[in-house]
Amino acid sequence: MDRFRPFRTDQSIRDHYAEVILKAEDLICPYFVVEGEGVHQEIPSLTDVFYFSIDELINELSTLPQMGINKILLFGVVDEGLKDKWGRAAYQGEPLIVRAIKAIKSYCPLITVMSDVCLCGYTDHGHCEIDSNDETLPFLADMALVHARAGVDYVSPSAMMDGQVQAIRERLDSEGFQTTKILAYSAKYASNFYGPFRDTVHSTPAFGDRKTYQMDFRNVSQALDEVRADIDEGADWVMVKPAHTYLDVIKTVHHAFPDRQVVAYHVSGEYMMLKSAAKVGIINEIDAVWEVLTAIKRAGATLIITYYAKMVAAILVKPCER
Ligand code: PBG
Repeated sequence: MDRFRPFRTDQSIRDHYAEVILKAEDLICPYFVVEGEGVHQEIPSLTDVFYFSIDELINELSTLPQMGINKILLFGVVDEGLKDKWGRAAYQGEPLIVRAIKAIKSYCPLITVMSDVCLCGYTDHGHCEIDSNDETLPFLADMALVHARAGVDYVSPSAMMDGQVQAIRERLDSEGFQTTKILAYSAKYASNFYGPFRDTVHSTPAFGDRKTYQMDFRNVSQALDEVRADIDEGADWVMVKPAHTYLDVIKTVHHAFPDRQVVAYHVSGEYMMLKSAAKVGIINEIDAVWEVLTAIKRAGATLIITYYAKMVAAILVKPCER
């Protein structure tokens, strides 16, 4: 008879034998920045997540390094009145996200900043207005360049346009931004779990037409093709999104590209499912979150984007209690 129970007798023994240890440095915390001053306001569709104006965001971010969190993913939430057909608010003048990047880089230099590069959320019809894949590429490259000039560490193209990584890489290189890196949303599925995020950035599509450019969830080998193409085009890190529902995809990508950072995005709907389950009392929230995020890491994610980053980091600073 093999005996396994000796490995599980108490918490310290279990900790000793644990193969996968979640750390605060594994986490990337998303932030939604808005215009104004003194804004620190809960987002109605994302419980316990907040809109911040730039000044409040700086206060908030200065608390992260002591929790072990040093990476953020930034989204600019554009006022409805500034949106137009072409998404010009994204890359003309001094856009909100650019001002935010500059402020973070000067006041919180320890934080690695990633910024979403996509025209969704900037156009006045609530969805990507530009129909042609190839015509969109120069707009995305413009936008990435503007973020790079502001000092962002990683631009993160999320539009799922073919060739977007190459277009951005070439533009950044030719303008002298060879050290600005690219986190590519490589395997981004047309998922039912983005609803709370779309409400947050006011980009709810009139109908679910993103299936024409985001991946069909019935495919996995195509995820490898998407990842390979992004790496060939110059991506530094690649992403699988969503995460909780796509552990097999994370694992497949990790095995195919073992030396590559695989970032998994635990998305808004996945987050709110846990929040809702906790609210009705069917799970212990923090224990369940710890389990889910550990599963995502166990599948092969090296970094996890999660709205739970702060809550989890707070318990990870005293791991002996887990
Ligand atoms: C697109 C983008 C989306 C998310 C991140 N970047 C939404 C979409 O594709 O419609 C979703 C993230 C989440 O649900 O938490 N800019």
